[in-house]
Formats: sequence, C-alpha cells, structure tokens
Amino acid sequence: MLTAPMWTDAFAAILRRDVLLAEMTTIRLGGRARCLVEPRNDEEVGDLLGALAAAGIAWKVIGGGSNLLPPDEDVDEVVIHPARLDSLAIDGEFVTVGAGLPLSALVARASEASLAGVHVLAGIPGQVGGALAMNAGGRHGEIAEVVDSVRVRLADGRSGELAKRDLDFGYRRCRLPEDAVITSARLRLRPAPDPRELKRETGRILKEKNAAQPTTGWNFGCMFKNPAGGSAGKLLDAAGLKGLSRGGARISPKHANFVENLGTATAADVRFLIEEAERRVSEALGVRLEREVRIWK
Ligand code: EPU
Repeated sequence: MLTAPMWTDAFAAILRRDVLLAEMTTIRLGGRARCLVEPRNDEEVGDLLGALAAAGIAWKVIGGGSNLLPPDEDVDEVVIHPARLDSLAIDGEFVTVGAGLPLSALVARASEASLAGVHVLAGIPGQVGGALAMNAGGRHGEIAEVVDSVRVRLADGRSGELAKRDLDFGYRRCRLPEDAVITSARLRLRPAPDPRELKRETGRILKEKNAAQPTTGWNFGCMFKNPAGGSAGKLLDAAGLKGLSRGGARISPKHANFVENLGTATAADVRFLIEEAERRVSEALGVRLEREVRIWK
C-alpha cells in the first residue's frame, strides 16, 4: 500500500525541529517548537499554508518575538518564522519590505536613503510583519502612517493584497483576514528636506526611549495597552507594582509597564506577574487593563 507523503517532506529544506523559542523571543522565554518552518519567499509561505490547511494542521507565526510570551512547555503547532523574508527595495519614496526584515534595519536603510517616516519607530524591536499586525509605534508616530499596502497569504495559501484603508489600523491593532500571514508591505516615506536633521531627530527619539524604558535587559516591551486618555505605566506605578518579583521575573523599577526576565524566569513567573498587575490595578484603581503582549497558551 502506498502511504501519502507527509507535508514535512515537501518543506524539509526549510524545516527545523525542536527549536528553542526562548532564543527567538526578546524576553528569552519559551519551550521548544517541535516544527519551525522558515519560508524563503512569498510563494513558499503560500505553499506551506496550503499544505498545512490540506493536512488540517494548526500553526502560529513568530516574527521578531518582541511582543510575545510563549509557554514554558513545547509547542505542538507548527511555528512559521518569516525571518528570511527580509528584502528591501527602494523606488523613489516607496519602500517595499519583507515581513521578516528587522524594524531596526528598515529604520537604518530609510535613513541612509534620506527618507523620513519610519524614523519615528527608532528603538522599537521586532520585524516588519509583527509591527504591521500590531501597528507598532509610540508617542512620535506609528507604522500605519506610512503604509500604502500589505501583501498577505491567506489561510488556504492564496495571495492577497490589502490597501491601507482595508486594514482599519487603530492603536496597536489592525484588521487582517483570519489566519493571514503578512509577507511584505509597500510603505510610502517622504524625502527628508535635511538628512542630517533626520539623523539627529532619530537619535533624539532613541535617547528619549532609553531614558524612560529598560532597553538593555530581557523584556517584551509593554505588558498592557494604554487605556483611552491614560497611561498604563502610570496606573501600574500608582498601584505599587514597580519592583514586584516572582521567581526570576520582575516588574521593572524603571517603568511599571515592563516585566523583565532577570535570567532565571519562567514564562509562568511572567504570567503570574501580568495577572497580579491586572488584579491590583483593577482592585485599587477600578481600571481593567487590556493586554498588549500576545500570550501563547
Ligand atoms: N509613568 C509613570 N510610572 C511608570 C511609567 C510611566 O509614572 O512606571 C508615567 C511617565 O512618567 C509618563 C507617562 O507615565 O508621564 C507615560 O509613560 P511613557 O512616556 O514611558 O510612555 P508610555 O505611555 O508608558 C508608550 C508606549 C511605548 C512607547 C512609549 C514612547 C504603550 C502601551 N506604550 O509608553 O510602547 O515606547 O510610549 O513612545 O502604548 C510598547 O508598546 O511595547 C511600548 C514600549
């Protein structure tokens, strides 16, 4: 009797087994992905999604791992890692970037080309795909402001292109078709009237971020979104959470919306602190904070 080929056979060249997710997250936590696939181009993402859909296999995406907390346990779903989709092409003020390009590389390359717009993202970790999915940004602006269109692969592997208006960007959110994987984006930047001033402005943004946030240790950025008109950091601070620790994890004494892995934390320690922070802010101040970090079950 003939046995059907496994989906893994077709993707052997881009598949790794038992990959420690702690090495792929900025908080350095997470168990192993039993199967991690690293597509080399848009088409390969489509082929992979098509094969997984046909085989009925669940999957997740990990980008730069900067806003993510995987579990301590191994992850059974296939993990798709688009880091190899890291192309960048400049055509006048349009920049086409792969989803796996680190944001820091995008900021640097745009600056070299004297193009302004993404400089407001200086200091934000992660890759382009995650930055789009979360509408990454800060007080100086967000990635949505420069998006022209986004290419995705849909759950069945088909290709799609979404214009900015279809994505309905909001504060740390956007609307994507269910189970779509972003593969690239076309951004519209603007020529900097004074390239030296662009570099100085980028430097100022970085300096400000370093002064306010723990930018050296292991963390995943802010735990919670800011509530409308308020500041999650201020509320967490007022509720006395700065410095609270559990196992090897601690709420930053510098900024109360950050939780740090001091070296020996588990994801369970971090989850405990997130839940404790939610509980205390709700009890003391009557505010229900919304999580920004994506927690994998
Ligand atoms: N504050 C406190 N105590 C704290 C932390 C902050 O009193 O422990 C006060 C600050 O003094 C300030 C206010 O709260 O008056 C706001 O703090 P900050 O300027 O640090 O900005 P944020 O609102 O906490 C946001 C984004 C950051 C982004 C910064 C700078 C969110 C949830 N956070 O932080 O984004 O880097 O602005 O642009 O939107 C992220 O999303 O992961 C993130 C780091």
